[in-house]
Amino acid sequence: MSDTTASRATLTTESGAPVADNQNSAQAGVGGPLLIQDQYLLEKLARFNRERIPERVVHARGSGAYGYFEVTADLTRFTKAHFLAEPGRRTEVFARFSTVAGNLGAADAVRDPRGFALKFYTEEGNYDLVGNNTPVFFIKDPLKFPDFIHTQKRDPYTGIQEADNVWDFWGLSPEATHQVTWLFGDRGIPASYRHMDGFGSHTYLWTNAEGQAYWVKYHFKTDQGIRTLTSAEAAELAGRDPDSHQRDLREAVDAGQFPSWTLKVQLMPVADAAKYRFNPFDLTKVWPHADYPLVEVGRLVLDRNPENVFAEVEQAAFSPNNFVPGIGPSPDKMLQGRLFAYADAHRYRLGVNHTQLAVNAPHAATARNHGRDGAMATNTGGRAKNYEPNSFGGPYETGEPLYAASPVTGHTGTFEAPSHAEDDDFVQAGNLYRLMSEDEKARLVANLAGFIAQVTRDDLVDRAVANFRAADAEYGDRLEAAVKALRTG
Ligand code: HEM
Repeated sequence: MSDTTASRATLTTESGAPVADNQNSAQAGVGGPLLIQDQYLLEKLARFNRERIPERVVHARGSGAYGYFEVTADLTRFTKAHFLAEPGRRTEVFARFSTVAGNLGAADAVRDPRGFALKFYTEEGNYDLVGNNTPVFFIKDPLKFPDFIHTQKRDPYTGIQEADNVWDFWGLSPEATHQVTWLFGDRGIPASYRHMDGFGSHTYLWTNAEGQAYWVKYHFKTDQGIRTLTSAEAAELAGRDPDSHQRDLREAVDAGQFPSWTLKVQLMPVADAAKYRFNPFDLTKVWPHADYPLVEVGRLVLDRNPENVFAEVEQAAFSPNNFVPGIGPSPDKMLQGRLFAYADAHRYRLGVNHTQLAVNAPHAATARNHGRDGAMATNTGGRAKNYEPNSFGGPYETGEPLYAASPVTGHTGTFEAPSHAEDDDFVQAGNLYRLMSEDEKARLVANLAGFIAQVTRDDLVDRAVANFRAADAEYGDRLEAAVKALRTG
């Protein structure tokens, strides 16, 4: 035995027995067939067959890092959330960034929104803020989400993403015009996860200790500065280094260049919502900063890489309905749909006990309830009684709602959103276009035209272009000309 071998631990089976030979399977004689009694071979092949779990149905491709959130301003008059309570307070955070449409092995440098999911391990339980790098979204009702994602993913017949499907859906969903204008503009391909902003996107509800409530929108401004790739740069990078975002984040953190973001919020007194110009819970719109200015809250810093990507990144489970006292949902229909979708996805993807995995369990609080057992339970509650109320010192309810109650009126049914003076699918898309420099407009039109020109049917092209014309006549005209040039050229 060499010195090197002597200092190493013995290789074992899963039950801990020593393995004699990891190079040769047991055979019935030299050159003969293999033996079913070779437990080690059977176990090794069988385990390998079970290495993959279902990938996330969206946002499959992602990277994660740990860090902390530090409060820099006192906002206790707006929320009683303990982790936001006083300047200097630090809370451990796990972040996962992602692309949306691609599968687990897809390239990072693509035109796609980026996920910006955060888990704050607070003393009052885990708070998940599951946002994107865009302040708006393509649709405003969760019923449309599976259809929308189907158009982004692989066509049932061709097995690849089809321009026909993408533009058919967007053409028939004018509310997507704002997000599509954003996505095909310069910010549509971040240079890395470090060089993009993050947004909670939805409106959430903050409640202070007196029970007063405020609608709130979160903005994480990158301290690294915004950096983006052009379509040509991205195509080259995606080919040369498909894992560019993953590599960049891991290397930066390993090198001690800890990425950080400044959190700012927009706050709207609850009474403003009914009389605001447009529905403030419409996820296809931003709140103009002139109406609701940004207020600084704190700083997010990522300073530690996960030890094991599968355990901590692939098995991470973020759910928009993991709230803590002082924070709750708004009636944004998309958010309401998401309050169901995520934990359900986790139960399917990871199992009912995913909340016991180290990355998902509370770190600064203790989970105590009477949910029990299930596949792979590691925290079973031991001898403790598994019902409530009980007379054996079991955990008790507080009687204190996490967030303020919202008034509701009317009958059940399917409705359009409550109407406001400026509810419109095109105004903000047009404003975004008009804000761009001439160069930015030219790149936006070229990016859109390059994709629309792949559509095979004229009626789909016309309907898609009509939405951009409704946002801004010049925008539509330029796009139509660019598409025509590509399709006839
Ligand atoms: C991931 C559903 C809209 C951000 C997911 C997953 C589902 C889902 C099922 C996979 C979860 C998992 O397996 O762990 C939905 C539905 C939506 C919606 C039904 C609309 C009704 C949005 C919006 C945003 C967003 C508007 C951002 C503002 C994310 C992020 C992830 C994700 C960041 C990845 C989380 C992670 O890193 O694990 N979504 N989504 N989604 N979604 Fe959504």
